[in-house]
Parts: sequence; structure tokens; C-alpha cells
Amino acid sequence: MKKQLSMILPFLIMVLPVLADNDAGFERGGDGGFAGGLGNFAVFLLAVGAVYVALRVLYVWSKSWPEDYEEWKTLLKDLYRQYRKPLLTIHNWMMIAAVVVGGIHGIFLLSRGGFQVITGIVAWGIMLFLAIFGTVIYYKMRPIWDKREVKGFVRFVHRQWILSIILIIALLIHVGIN
Ligand code: HEM
Ligand code: HEM
Repeated sequence: MKKQLSMILPFLIMVLPVLADNDAGFERGGDGGFAGGLGNFAVFLLAVGAVYVALRVLYVWSKSWPEDYEEWKTLLKDLYRQYRKPLLTIHNWMMIAAVVVGGIHGIFLLSRGGFQVITGIVAWGIMLFLAIFGTVIYYKMRPIWDKREVKGFVRFVHRQWILSIILIIALLIHVGIN
């Protein structure tokens, strides 16, 4: 069950822009339109950053597939080996950019108040939290990285699906109520 769920999640992130269905953003013009457009752009950045997660999850999962899927397994292995590094770099930068763009979007709309602001803050808070932990992992930041237990904890937290699940749910609700 856990595996299936973790399979679906990155793809869900990727279809978020479609679900958000907001071409209105930039076109509407004016302040609200521009800020809405930034929100859409942040979702897009999240989706691009999630490609790494999707490929990694698929690859890890494919290892447990039966022999009949040998061709697929080889394909995924090759793809993973070839694209892991560039995709991870894309993951890092896109996610950081998503936090920045989502944050600017939030600043513009904070004064509106209401439920949508709350779901936005929840989503953004999780993104910021994950991005900080991810940055510590990627840049092996000291002194955190020197302590083995802390290092393990940071990696463990960053890879927890529950955080990504809450993030996606918060975003679905956030973009769903217009
Ligand atoms: C502090 C955090 C946030 C606040 C206060 C906030 C607030 C809002 C508000 C009030 C709206 C309604 C705008 C309108 O009707 O024109 C909105 C829409 C939206 N938000 Fe956020 N938001 C936040 C974070 C985020 C984040 C992190 C994302 C994406 C990663 C996001 C994506 C969107 C999208 C896609 C829309 C729909 C835009 C549209 O209708 O064109 N928001 N947000
Ligand atoms: C919204 C922000 C982010 C989300 C939702 C997110 C999500 C994830 C997830 C779910 C994984 C686990 C993939 C797996 O092994 O199954 C992962 C891995 C990773 N992420 Fe992020 N991430 C975010 C931001 C960042 C940032 C900003 C960085 C670095 C600057 C980063 C660096 C990494 C690294 C290095 C890994 C591999 C971890 C390892 O090998 O233990 N992430 N991310």
C-alpha cells in the first residue's frame, strides 16, 4: 500500500497545475491576477522538481517487479543511472524557487484573510521546512552534518511521505477553493 501511495504522489504533484486550471492568473491582469499567476508558477516549479522523486520511486519500486518486466526494469535502471544527478540538481533548484515564488505570491494575498490564506500558509510552511532540510542534506551543512544521528534524522524527515501528502492535500484544497 505504502509503495502504491508513494508511486501516485509525485504524479499527483505533477498534475496539480492541470487541476489548478488557472490560466486566469496572468491574463486577468491587475494585482490579484499577477499574484494568482505567481501561485500557478509555484505549482509548476513544484511539479518539475517532483520529476526526480517520481523517477527514483519508480526505479526503487521496479526492483521488486517480477522477471516478466525485465525490459522495463532495465529501462528504468538505465534512466535512473543516467538522469539521477541532473534531476536531483533540478529538484533542488526548482523546489527552492517554488518556495520563493510561492512566498511572494503569499505576501501579495495575505491580507485577504480567510481559509485560503490558512491552507496557503500550511502548504508554504511545509515547503519551507522541507527545503531547509533538503538544503542541509545537499550541501552537507556543518555542524549539523558532522553528527551522525542528526544527519540521519534530517534525511529521514526530508524523505517522509507524510509531509508531502499533507503538502499536496493542503495545495489541492488551496487551489480548489476559488
Ligand atoms: C503564505 C502562503 C499563501 C497565501 C497567504 C496564499 C493565498 C492565496 C489566495 C488568497 C488565493 C486566492 C487568489 C485569487 O482568488 O485571486 C490563492 C490562490 C492560489 N494559490 Fe496561494 N497562497 C499561499 C501559498 C501558496 C503556495 C505555496 C502555492 C503553490 C505552491 C499557492 C498556489 C496558489 C494557486 C495556484 C492559486 C490559484 C491562483 C488563481 O486563481 O489564479 N499558494 N492563494
Ligand atoms: C517543497 C520542497 C521539497 C519537497 C516536497 C521534496 C521532496 C523530496 C522527497 C519526497 C524526496 C525523497 C525521494 C525518495 O528517496 O523517495 C527528496 C529527496 C531529496 N531532496 Fe527534496 N524536496 C524538497 C526540497 C528540496 C530542496 C530545496 C533540496 C536541496 C537544496 C532537496 C534535496 C533533496 C535531496 C539531496 C534528496 C535525496 C535525499 C537522500 O538521498 O536521502 N529537496 N525530496
